[in-house]
Amino acid sequence: MSETTISTQETELQKLKESMAMMDELWDNASYGMVLVDEKGAIVKWNYEKFLGISEKDVLGKPVQDVIQNTRLHIVVKTGKKEICDVQEINGHNVITSRVPIKKDGKIIGAAGTILFSDTSELHSLAKKMQTLEDTLSKYKGELSKLLEAKFSFEDIVTSNPKMMELKNIAKRVAKTNSTVLIQGESGTGKELFAHAIHKESLRRYGNFVTLNCAAIPKELLEAELFGYEEGAFTGAKKGGKIGKFELAAGGTILLDEIGSMPYEMQSKLLRVLESKEFERVGGTRPIKLDARIISSTNENLENEVQRGEFRRDLYYRLNVIKIDIPPLRNRLEDIELLSKNVTQKLVSDLQVNKKILAQETIDNLKSHHWPGNVRELRNVLERAINFAPKTVILPENLPEYIIRNNKKTSTTTTNKTLKEIVEKTEIEAIKQAITKAQGNRTLAAQQLNIHRTSLYKKMEKYGMQIED
Ligand SMILES: Nc1ncnc2c1ncn2[C@@H]1O[C@H](COP(=O)(O)OP(=O)(O)OP(=O)(O)O)[C@@H](O)[C@H]1O
Ligand SMILES: [Mg+2]
Repeated sequence: MSETTISTQETELQKLKESMAMMDELWDNASYGMVLVDEKGAIVKWNYEKFLGISEKDVLGKPVQDVIQNTRLHIVVKTGKKEICDVQEINGHNVITSRVPIKKDGKIIGAAGTILFSDTSELHSLAKKMQTLEDTLSKYKGELSKLLEAKFSFEDIVTSNPKMMELKNIAKRVAKTNSTVLIQGESGTGKELFAHAIHKESLRRYGNFVTLNCAAIPKELLEAELFGYEEGAFTGAKKGGKIGKFELAAGGTILLDEIGSMPYEMQSKLLRVLESKEFERVGGTRPIKLDARIISSTNENLENEVQRGEFRRDLYYRLNVIKIDIPPLRNRLEDIELLSKNVTQKLVSDLQVNKKILAQETIDNLKSHHWPGNVRELRNVLERAINFAPKTVILPENLPEYIIRNNKKTSTTTTNKTLKEIVEKTEIEAIKQAITKAQGNRTLAAQQLNIHRTSLYKKMEKYGMQIED
């Protein structure tokens, strides 16, 4: 035998010894106990000493059923079937055991028994811990899905204005389709409300409702936010990559809020996605099918943006399949009263305060405000008034100073005028209000004022009034 062969054999022997030592270590430290039996069920290895108080030397070679109460190891060596997590009573303890046959060349040469839990109460406490974890997980899952759920429906859109009612009907009808919707309106007019309602009324209502505010995300991050990214797509990219809003909205709806603020290069990318109906994650190569309904909203006039060359015309046409143009609150005077009453009721219940009623004078004050912040501003004014009103009735003095001041101005300016001037001023006011209410329709406005159309024209000409149609 050569010298190299001898040294190879020595190395092999050394490795084997180390493995055996490791096995012994493992065996001795097995947490609750292990027993090995041969093919006849006689004990060949034992570390139940910790548990049963009997040492290995006293049991070696004995039939396992004579030593361990209720064991089935001597049966397992016959059946060859493993028994996992069985409850076995030993000396008054319910222990959880597993029994596994040991086979060599298909023949049973013994079996191993292990105690996994020395008492079932340990298992119960583990099960309890797992239950708590599962409950927490399902709570968070529930909260996440609530976040991605439409919160408002068409019933939440309060209005008695004919144009708004028509918009609600149009939106309800298109909700059932997959068409792209563009919602336009001043800030606080209820664009988001409409988007939620459309999703909730659609066949996609069980999918997610995802919002992306195009103005709030830095230009460089917008693409990753929309399309997601693959691991290592850029420095700082999260391990495992990140799902984008389009993927999150698959089967549901995505609201691209403040679309007018989308950077020009991103507009081209979005257009390509809308046309090809697929996209790729940043740094990815696999095309992903676009399965989200797109609703976009803007408080800028997108058509003007297109004229100025700031918004792509082709994208504008793509997004503008159905347009919902929400009129500002000042152009739907009848809504101010209805909304004020409705919002007050809701706020009273949300804020958990005593019942509040708006005095007619307070409503009149609210009606003559210009409402640049629309329904959001009205809501805020009412919330403040509810907090300021000491009694049930909300009086004008509970409104913010800037609203009352404007009203006082209109009424006091009449005091030092001649009757002719007062009549003229009142006429102008009445005409303005009637035209606003009729949304620029002069015939309707004349009917409401109970005067002839030509008479209305003459008066408007006399007062140099311009009408928006
Ligand atoms: N017709 C309405 N009926 C009841 N509540 C309304 C109505 N319109 C708007 N609101 C309420 O007014 C507030 C503002 O509405 P929303 O957030 O939808 O406005 P927005 O047009 O998206 O505004 P912004 O352009 O500033 O984002 C919300 O609290 C909403 O519930
Ligand atoms: Mg909004």
